[in-house]
Amino acid sequence: MVKALVTYYSGSGNTRRMAELVAEGAEDAGAHVVLKPVGDVAAEELLDFEAVIIGSPTYYGLMSYEVKKLFDGSVKFQGRLKGKVGGAFSSSANPGGGNETTVMSILQAMLIHGMIVQGTPMGDHYGPIAVNEPDERAADQCRQLGSRVVELAEKLHD
Ligand SMILES: Cc1cc2nc3c(=O)[nH]c(=O)nc-3n(C[C@H](O)[C@H](O)[C@H](O)COP(=O)(O)O)c2cc1C
Repeated sequence: MVKALVTYYSGSGNTRRMAELVAEGAEDAGAHVVLKPVGDVAAEELLDFEAVIIGSPTYYGLMSYEVKKLFDGSVKFQGRLKGKVGGAFSSSANPGGGNETTVMSILQAMLIHGMIVQGTPMGDHYGPIAVNEPDERAADQCRQLGSRVVELAEKLHD
């Protein structure tokens, strides 16, 4: 069974709601899911999961410092996260407020770790985005991300 970590920072609850939906999708795909705020994740815990999905509010078009702190702490495991499957999602206040660049900032850090990230040809190509709290469209994207990441991790880590 794939072990999936869904972690997030959320100042006012929007990204947390997205994380809950991503976790639902990952559970539906059969993963053992751990859902928790990024402040409660020690960098070494990342080693325990085949799939790691991270959400951040859009802060100046980038991940929040709380999420960056987890990545900075993970530098001592450089090379050991290679081959894990990653995914990212973000909530912003404005439709063009930098939500996709925020998703990309998280995926970029994952790629530097040698993690595997899969885009999608339909919907939110890089990862789910919501304007404020997730609406039905964004909720669907979040569930799909959770399922997609777990399905790929299953193929790679069976
Ligand atoms: C420090 C800070 C920077 C922000 N920067 C942006 C931004 O660049 N673009 C944007 O659309 N919204 C920005 N926002 C708004 C948040 O991304 C938005 O309110 C989001 O839904 C918050 O998610 P949360 O409820 O998970 O904290 C910013 C908010 C804060 C507090």
